[in-house]
Amino acid sequence: MIEIFASLSKKQILSSIRCVLGSFSSARGFWAARALNSACYLEAQKSNVQAESVAANVLEQYFDEVTEGPGIWKWRHYFEIYHRHLHKFIGQDVHLLEVGIYSGGSLQMWQHYLGPECQIYGVDIEEACRAYESEAVNIFIGDQADRQFWSHFKKNVPSLDIIIDDGGHAPRQQIVTLEELISHLRPGGVYICEDVHGSFNQFAQYINGFCQNLNQFGVKPGQELACSPTQFQSQIHSVHMYPYVVVIEKTSRPVTEFIAPKHGTQWQPFL
Ligand SMILES: C[S@@+](CC[C@H](N)C(=O)[O-])C[C@H]1O[C@@H](n2cnc3c(N)ncnc32)[C@H](O)[C@@H]1O
Repeated sequence: MIEIFASLSKKQILSSIRCVLGSFSSARGFWAARALNSACYLEAQKSNVQAESVAANVLEQYFDEVTEGPGIWKWRHYFEIYHRHLHKFIGQDVHLLEVGIYSGGSLQMWQHYLGPECQIYGVDIEEACRAYESEAVNIFIGDQADRQFWSHFKKNVPSLDIIIDDGGHAPRQQIVTLEELISHLRPGGVYICEDVHGSFNQFAQYINGFCQNLNQFGVKPGQELACSPTQFQSQIHSVHMYPYVVVIEKTSRPVTEFIAPKHGTQWQPFL
């Protein structure tokens, strides 16, 4: 332990201390969220519920209409998440990768949803999944935890607009896949990692660390409050966490400045 600390720079030690202190806030947030499970809170919520009109989701409709043929296996609540982040690609010339093909039905669903212009790539560890190769669908067989496999993949596939990781679901597989593919995602692209199960899941913890970089902050001298984005902030628009799903969106154009201008003439004296 002492040797590890001795090898760290002052900046790294400070970040590590912040990380340890951050884990106390993380535990506090965890228990605050658990309190929302309490029955009295749920009762209060029920009395406030308004009748919501839920718009029909084309993906969910498609899924419900599949009663035979190649199988699709998705958590039902994923359809709303997909549509929220992916509808901007409908009808476009987009490149989509899904890791985890299984019985081929989800590749067909993406093709149907995005339209004839889209090009689909599927990755699976099982040789049997080659059966789903077609003009619009390229299949690669390999292990998503193998960096050499991704190196070969990236040499043969242009950069992607949409990446969906529905493969082995082990955090170490999800981490390698994200690290290998995030730079292969185009500006404006969307990365979805599915089946992140369990509180303090190692992939979710990894994402907690990853998105700390969204808040990196160093004010530029000047009259207005302004910051120069880091390379990370310039490229990564947002990180979203849903039950069992993480979504990362890239910026469509590099962000060059974060600025907080003040508009108006009347101000309280206390700040
Ligand atoms: C849950 S299924 C995919 C379901 C499919 N996307 C769907 O929506 O119907 C998971 C798939 O991941 C594949 N898989 C498991 N481990 C893998 C690995 N290490 N690399 C690549 N694929 C893997 C399995 O062979 C299986 O076909």
